[in-house]
Amino acid sequence: MCGIMGYVGGDGASGIILNGLAKQEYRGYDSAGIALCLNGEIKSAKVVGRVSALARLVDDMPPECMEARSGIGHTRWATHGGVTVTNAHPHESADKMVTLVHNGIIENSKEIKADLTSKGIDFITETDTEAACQLLAHLYRGDALAAMTCLAKSLVGAFALVIMFKDRPGEIWCARKGSPLVVAYSGGASYCASDPTALLEFTHDLFFLDEGEMAELRPDGCRFFCFDGTRREKESIHLSWDSVMSDKGHYEHFMRKEIEEQPDVLRLTIDTHTILTSVSRERDLNLPVGMMKRVNRVQFVACGTSHYATLVARNIMESLDEEIDVSADVASEYRYRGVRGGDDTLAIFVSQSGETADTLAAARLARSKGTHCIAITNVRGSTIDRETEHTLLSMAGPEIGVAATKTFTGQISLLALLVMQLLKDRGTLSASDEARVIGGMRILPSHVHSILERESEIKSLAEKYSDSKGFFFIGRRECVPLAMEAALKLKEIAYLPSEAYAAGEMKHGPIAMLDEHLTVFAFVPDNDLREKTLSNVEECRARSAPIILLANEGDSSARDHANDVLYIPRTERELFPFTGVVALQLFAYHVARTLRRDIDMPRNLAKSVTVE
Ligand code: M6R
Repeated sequence: MCGIMGYVGGDGASGIILNGLAKQEYRGYDSAGIALCLNGEIKSAKVVGRVSALARLVDDMPPECMEARSGIGHTRWATHGGVTVTNAHPHESADKMVTLVHNGIIENSKEIKADLTSKGIDFITETDTEAACQLLAHLYRGDALAAMTCLAKSLVGAFALVIMFKDRPGEIWCARKGSPLVVAYSGGASYCASDPTALLEFTHDLFFLDEGEMAELRPDGCRFFCFDGTRREKESIHLSWDSVMSDKGHYEHFMRKEIEEQPDVLRLTIDTHTILTSVSRERDLNLPVGMMKRVNRVQFVACGTSHYATLVARNIMESLDEEIDVSADVASEYRYRGVRGGDDTLAIFVSQSGETADTLAAARLARSKGTHCIAITNVRGSTIDRETEHTLLSMAGPEIGVAATKTFTGQISLLALLVMQLLKDRGTLSASDEARVIGGMRILPSHVHSILERESEIKSLAEKYSDSKGFFFIGRRECVPLAMEAALKLKEIAYLPSEAYAAGEMKHGPIAMLDEHLTVFAFVPDNDLREKTLSNVEECRARSAPIILLANEGDSSARDHANDVLYIPRTERELFPFTGVVALQLFAYHVARTLRRDIDMPRNLAKSVTVE
């Protein structure tokens, strides 16, 4: 949550910072602010609203502010304190010596505030961040490293802090514990940001701060320190993402662009990773040889859309190996459920951002139990990538829309291939299943392409049903995670009540809600469960609910059960979610567009959830 951008170099800082904030606005967008260092003064501008509003405010700052060669900026996702200009970052200490921005939560802010207030320091905001700011100013006696060291030791909680001292105009200081921060140096300037995508236009060689690390940024380079003040040599990580990948291009929304990129994501993942199944060895993942023969329990762990991706993977694993003990937990529950672990357990953690606090904490817990761990993430250099011994990178490229689309497709395709390799290593994947599923995956890009070509039909359907009071998405087995993901998309971007149910569960309660104003969207692939699902659909129809079906091409009798049918190409049974999700993403997108929602930055959300 929250986006941070810092710059110190030879160019005008304000434009670089505003540009960097705009690229990270999806991280949080309640309010925004900037502080510029100029002639021994720090000038700030803050606004409730978006970076575009901040840019207008910066235009009205005294012209000399454009000369500032260093500065810091922030977009906020409020945790402590309402969405007001006063609570917006950057915050300035009472003595004006320290100005800083923060991402995370300072858990002992109340204690710090009480202590400093008793010493006569006035607080003006409702934020936890101000405690860090005032404390740093209180600790600072002209030695920035010494003050930073004391501050880092005094703070409890999670923080990425980026700081300017009024009397140190050519320096920016950073500290990281629990919240991501990435640093770069290129051509006489240093930068820092919450998200690597904000820095790719300057360099692809990035320094990801580790837990308990600090950095000093100057125009001539960066120095890194541990929280105890000792120097640290640090290797940069090369990120091959292209900066144009994070451009909206001619699309109205990032989400729409990212939906369209899915055939490429599938193609790239399958081409790059079918090596996973081509050898019957743990070697590709560098896993201990023979591990899968010893493992008798597989746990998938993730949050949100990534969790639904793991449910798809769990179903594939169960469908290919009926003996294996496999579970899929949301990370925030896995941590407190007392799950088992150890050498006989493999846990697979999935996080697009690689920074989700609950998933990181769950992975740390699993490691502490001696569980074998694999991470799947879309961001090289992210915390989960660096902390997990075995990481697989999904091939989705940067995703900017807050609602996950192409990263879900990247995750499920990579997970399907990983599941097959693991079962092969275990000796339980039949050659016929392997050939069948891999063959099915290879034609997915063209299937997805043909769904994208039906956008106008999906758009008409979305417009027709956009005044519905709410939606039920129902299906069985492989369609249950698909229903969950479809309902989440509609909640996130259209703000419509939408529930996902295993179709057989409707009659156990939710059916009571149905009337002509609640739409039931049911998934009826042409497989062994079609008739049972259709019986559940009929039960809903009998309660006057309008029915939309997602069915396979050629299933003409599906029309007998519904008001509308959306047809998608046939796939192998396990792969129905891969195509279905694209149709449902487009449906949610067009409902939200009809309702004039803020699709790329839905209210109350942030792309990367770095608090627990
Ligand atoms: O970065 P992660 O995959 O760990 O994020 C997990 C969820 O926060 C994320 O999937 C969220 O549910 C998305 N907004 C879904 O569109």
